[in-house]
Amino acid sequence: MKSSELRQKYLDFFKSKGHKIIPSASLIPENDPTVLFTTAGMHPLVPYLLGEKHPEGTRLTDSQKCIRTGDIDDVGDDIHNTFFEMLGNWSLGDYWKEDAIKWSFEFITEELKIPLDRFAVSCFAGDDDAPKDEESAKIWEGLGIKKERIAFLPKEDNWWGPAGETGPCGPDTEMFYWKLNDTPAPKNFDAKNKNWVEIWNDVFMQYVKDKDGNYNLAAQKNVDTGMGLERTLSVLNGKENSYETDLFLPIIEKISGLAKEKYEGEYVKAYRIIADHIKAAVMLIGDDKGIVPSNKDRGYVLRKLIRRAVRYSDVIKMKYGELQTEFVLDSVVDAVIEIYKDAYPALYKNREMIISEIYKEEVQFRSTLQKGLREFELLRAIDVISGKDAFNLYQTYGFPIEVTLELAKEKGVKVDVEGFNEESKNHQDLSRTASAGVFKGGLADHSEQTTKLHTAAHLMLAGLRKVLGTEAYQKGSNITAERLRFDFSHKEKMTGAQIKDVENFVNGIIEKDLPVSFEEMTLDKAREINAMGVFESKYGEKVKVYTVGSGDNIVSREICGGPHVERTGVLGKFKIQKEESSSSGVRRIKAILE
Ligand code: ALA
Repeated sequence: MKSSELRQKYLDFFKSKGHKIIPSASLIPENDPTVLFTTAGMHPLVPYLLGEKHPEGTRLTDSQKCIRTGDIDDVGDDIHNTFFEMLGNWSLGDYWKEDAIKWSFEFITEELKIPLDRFAVSCFAGDDDAPKDEESAKIWEGLGIKKERIAFLPKEDNWWGPAGETGPCGPDTEMFYWKLNDTPAPKNFDAKNKNWVEIWNDVFMQYVKDKDGNYNLAAQKNVDTGMGLERTLSVLNGKENSYETDLFLPIIEKISGLAKEKYEGEYVKAYRIIADHIKAAVMLIGDDKGIVPSNKDRGYVLRKLIRRAVRYSDVIKMKYGELQTEFVLDSVVDAVIEIYKDAYPALYKNREMIISEIYKEEVQFRSTLQKGLREFELLRAIDVISGKDAFNLYQTYGFPIEVTLELAKEKGVKVDVEGFNEESKNHQDLSRTASAGVFKGGLADHSEQTTKLHTAAHLMLAGLRKVLGTEAYQKGSNITAERLRFDFSHKEKMTGAQIKDVENFVNGIIEKDLPVSFEEMTLDKAREINAMGVFESKYGEKVKVYTVGSGDNIVSREICGGPHVERTGVLGKFKIQKEESSSSGVRRIKAILE
C-alpha cells in the first residue's frame, strides 16, 4: 500500500461515519507556550476538546503533521522519526467508547484487512486517578477479540496526555499488529514483545490535568485517536521500518547517489539520521508558519537537526558524490518535497526558501566544523570533557551539545553535560535577554515576512510619535506572516488624516531605503541615546539597540532582540487596515505590507 492510499482510505472511512475532514494545522502551535511543536493530532484541537465550539462540528478527522524531538537519540533505529504524520478522528462530546472502538475495529479488519490472529489490544488497568477500563475490554470482546489478546496496563502505558503540562487527557486503548510474516503470533498478548507494534491509540479524554497535577473530570467527554502513518504503512507492507517505505526510500536513494559509503552495515544509521533530520527541517522551514535556524527555542532545534545531518553527511562522505561539492544537503530537499507535494502544497511554494536556509546553515556550520573537530581531538586526550570545553565547542564552533556527545561516545570519552548547562546559563545569549525583556511573545516566527513586518513596526512607532506626539508608547505587539498587530498608548480614536499621515511617514522611509543596523550596549547607554524600549531591567544589563537610518538622519532607535531587514527599501507598501480601541487609553492597529 502507498502512503497516499493509506491516508486517503482513513479520511474517507471516517467521512463515511459522519466526520468532517479538516486540514493539518501548522507544526508551530498557535498560542500554546507549553510546547515547541505540534506533537500529536489532538494538539491543535485542544480548545475544542476543552469545550470551544468547532466550526466543522463534533466529528472531525485529519492527517496531522507532527514533530517529536524528545527521542532524538533514538532516531536511526526502526521506529523513531522526528517528523511523522498522525491520522486521527475525534468526537467532541459526540460518540463515546462503543462507536470509537467499533469503527477502529471495522477500519482495521475491513479496510486494512488485518487478520485477527495478528491483532491485540491493551486497556487501562486503573489506579487512584481513574478506574479500570472494563467497558472498553467488554466492547473488544463483543467484537470477537479473545481475552488473552487483551492486556490491562498501568498509566505509563495506557494513559495519554496532556500534550503539554496541563490539559485534556485520559485512559486509552491501544491496538497492536504482529509484524512477523513467517512466525505466527503467540496466543497470549505480551506488550513487551517488540514484535507487537502499536499502530493506533483511542484515547477517552474524560479528564483535564491542572497545574497542581490533579486529574479533574472534564465538562465534555471526547474521543481522540491517533494512528501513526509511517509505522502502519511499514507493517502493512511487511517492512521492518519506515525507511523502507515510499515516505523515505526516495530520500535514501538521493543521499546514496551523493555518498561514497553505501547504505549498509555501520552506515545505515547515518543515512537514516540525515534522511529523518532533513525531512524534519524541510517541514519546519516550509510550514505555513515556517521557522529558520537560530540560537533560540524552535530555531535552535531546527539548527541542531541540520547540523547533526551535516556531521553525518561527512560520515558517509557525501561530498564525494556526483555533485563534487562540499555543500550537499540542499540537494536532498527536492526528494522530500516530491514525496509530500500533494499532501502539503506549501512546501513547493516555499521551495526556494527551504533550499536557501538549509544551504546557508550548512555553509555556516562548515565554516567552523573542521576547526572544531581539531579542537575536539585535542580535548579527547582527557577522560571527561568539561562543561567549559563543551560550551566552547558550542559557542566558538557552533557544535550542538548532541554533536559533542556523539563525538565523545565514538571516542570513548565522557562529557560533563551538567557543567555545560551551567555554562550556558552564565552566558545567556544577548539577543535572548533582549527579546525576553522587550518583545516577549511579540514575534510568532522569523520568516522573511514577519521580519519585514517587525521592521515596519519600528517605523510605525516612530510615525505615531511624530503624528500623535511623544505620549504614544508601544504597549505590545504580535506579528504573524500575514499582519502586524500593535498596541500603543493614546487616548482617543485616530482620525482618518492621522492614519494617512502615519502611513505616508512609513512609506516615505521605505522609499528612502535607509539602512537598519544594531549595536549592543548597556541599558544605561541605551537610555542616554534615547532609544525606545522598556527600562525595567537591572543596571548593567546589556541590550541590543536597532537603529533605522544613519548619521544625521536617524528615524528610529529601539531596544529590541530583532531580527530586522537590512534596508527599509525591501519592505514594499505599508498599509494600516484597522485602528480600534484595545483597552482603556490603549489603541490597537492592524497593518500589512503589500
Ligand atoms: N493523542 C493520542 C496519541 O498521540 C492519540 O497517541
